[in-house]
Amino acid sequence: MRPPIIVFISLLVGLTAALVPPRLHGKSTSGFSLPVSKTQGSKRDFVRDWAAARQKWGKGIPDDVLSTFSLLDDDGIVDVQPLGSDDIYIADIQVGNPPQTLKIAIDTGSADMWVQSSDTDYRANIEGPWAPQYKPDASNTSRRVDDAEWSVKYMDGTHANGIVYLDTVRMGGIELTDTAVQSAQIVAARFERETELSGIMGFAKSLPSNIEPPTPSLLDKLRPHLDAPVFSVDLRRNATGTFDFGHVDTSRASDNITWLDANPASPHWDVTFDLTAWDGSRHVWWAHSFEATIDTGTTLMFLPASLAGMYWFEVPDMRVDPRLSNAFTFPCRLAEGLPDLMFKLPGEEGHVLTIPGPYLNYGPVDDDPEYCWGGMQSAEDLEVTIFGDVMLKALFVVFDLENNRVGFANKDLDDE
Ligand SMILES: *[C@@H]1O[C@H](CO)[C@@H](O)[C@H](O)[C@H]1NC(C)=O
Ligand SMILES: *[C@@H]1O[C@H](CO)[C@@H](O)[C@H](O)[C@H]1NC(C)=O
Ligand SMILES: *[C@@H]1O[C@H](CO)[C@@H](O)[C@H](O)[C@H]1NC(C)=O
Repeated sequence: MRPPIIVFISLLVGLTAALVPPRLHGKSTSGFSLPVSKTQGSKRDFVRDWAAARQKWGKGIPDDVLSTFSLLDDDGIVDVQPLGSDDIYIADIQVGNPPQTLKIAIDTGSADMWVQSSDTDYRANIEGPWAPQYKPDASNTSRRVDDAEWSVKYMDGTHANGIVYLDTVRMGGIELTDTAVQSAQIVAARFERETELSGIMGFAKSLPSNIEPPTPSLLDKLRPHLDAPVFSVDLRRNATGTFDFGHVDTSRASDNITWLDANPASPHWDVTFDLTAWDGSRHVWWAHSFEATIDTGTTLMFLPASLAGMYWFEVPDMRVDPRLSNAFTFPCRLAEGLPDLMFKLPGEEGHVLTIPGPYLNYGPVDDDPEYCWGGMQSAEDLEVTIFGDVMLKALFVVFDLENNRVGFANKDLDDE
């Protein structure tokens, strides 16, 4: 069903002032920064990223897609992580005493901290090489939590699962003792082969982890250590980005931060956007309110179907790929000229966030290299609208735990 759309004609004015100055501006920094870099060398894979987003946020992957694109492993298990594995941002995190350095993806769309470990039973990649593992036996502070278990469900009914330890986790200069570390006994085949990804650390707003019985989440443990209960994300296209914890570094933004209240009823970082535009033949703001989940653990960006469709229908020779629920593709030669996507944030000042058009190019379709996948797709089959890394790479985003809100600003991009 197509939502009603009211179009307000307006001039696309440039970036305007923001509304609320960041609460901590001027205060000396207290907290830490984590550099995050992309996995090196792995080829981007649109189908997997698309499937991973559907698996995490939607109704799973249609059977015909599974067979068309060989997304099943040898055991018939769906071989896609809930986190798109080709374009995620990884930080070095220390666990245990003496510290063991693990490579961890930071995910604002989940709440578990799980890692490959000496408990992991490798079934697809028996000989290795493997990503750095957590070795609880080599840590003199690890303590097994009796009877605690965790599991993540895959769409075909199989599970990734494991056991739980309490141990010291160090991030930046902060030391969190007795923190739950979920040790994987079984992971999906693709994860076994990913040598640069030990596990995932979730920073969803208030989602409980999948540990039974319930155990404080990493965010619960971290919060008392932060002078200010905030963290921010500055991801970069094809470059090292940064998560800052405990302070807001406004020098990362090129304009003021505008704060949007997060939906208090949702455990996710869900905020409402209502005015969307793109530069192109028609300069209009589409008045269509939708709630979007801000998720660093999803590669792609998914807009409401009507908006996504209108954007791509303005790109000449656009094609949909019927194999993937009509995913949008476009001629690669137009990549540099794709329309910039804009969101006008609620508030009198009308702060406009801009995602440069070229950021919406995901890259060539394997069997049709003149055509490129759109990095922004329709959220029609998902239960929610997702703003993933394709969008976050263009922005500076702040998560405020105390005030339950998310701040947005533009930033200087060095690759345009
Ligand atoms: C940011 O906000 C301050 C005070 O609210 C205002 O003076 C300033 O012009 C704004 N800066 C930008 C770049 O919009
Ligand atoms: C545990 O390991 C740390 C780091 O190697 C060491 O400093 C500490 O003395 C050890 N503690 C015990 C109780 O063995
Ligand atoms: C990414 O950066 C590397 C090195 O800085 C460069 O060689 C490469 O062409 C870049 N890739 C893209 C897609 O911009």
